[in-house]
Amino acid sequence: MDRTAAAGVVVRPFRSGELPRLLVGAGPRDRFHHVERSGMHERGEATYLVAWDGDLPCGRGTVFHRSRYEQVRQVLGDVPELNALEAIPRGVGIGSRLVAAAEECATALGAHRLGLAVERGNVAARRLYERLGYVEWEHGDVVDRWLERDESGTAIREHADLCGYLVKELTDR
Ligand SMILES: CC(C)(COP(=O)(O)OP(=O)(O)OC[C@H]1O[C@@H](n2cnc3c(N)ncnc32)[C@H](O)[C@@H]1OP(=O)(O)O)[C@@H](O)C(=O)NCCC(=O)NCCS
Repeated sequence: MDRTAAAGVVVRPFRSGELPRLLVGAGPRDRFHHVERSGMHERGEATYLVAWDGDLPCGRGTVFHRSRYEQVRQVLGDVPELNALEAIPRGVGIGSRLVAAAEECATALGAHRLGLAVERGNVAARRLYERLGYVEWEHGDVVDRWLERDESGTAIREHADLCGYLVKELTDR
């Protein structure tokens, strides 16, 4: 897919009943992710954004309706937070479209900011966020704790990734 073809990609929030389509051809890691994130979406805890190339998912990102970091909530209150952004293929504009959709989602929630954590070593993703107007806050790093799971969904390892925290002010929109 090139940037021209990517123009036909549709980015929208998960729809009820769509989970089986997301699971077709998905590997164990993706299967768990889709189940977890669509569940959060249906419980109203998050908005699960999916990018579709026809019937095939080609990207995703979750907007938590409030940051999952206590240290962020203490400073910024219930700021929405973009998490687990991913695009396949990369570099054709799908990620940028998902970020734009996440910002629309945050605005629709009544927020004036969107936050996100980016791993210290993820230079390419950070460059994309900065290009899109995200700025690192002044309150230090956050630790992203997540569980790696095996094919059955059983947690096998806990990760703790040191991340910078970036925020975009959405008030000019
Ligand atoms: C980060 C990511 C979601 C960006 O999505 P994308 O569709 O590649 O982004 P776009 O095409 O809209 O923008 C491309 C920009 O993304 C950045 N980028 C990040 N990782 C990249 C990669 N592996 N390949 C190409 N570009 C990448 C570059 O800064 C690039 O900028 P450029 O256009 O000036 O070269 C995607 O690369 C990805 O899935 N990465 C792996 C998962 C990840 O790191 N997620 C972020 C967690 S905080």
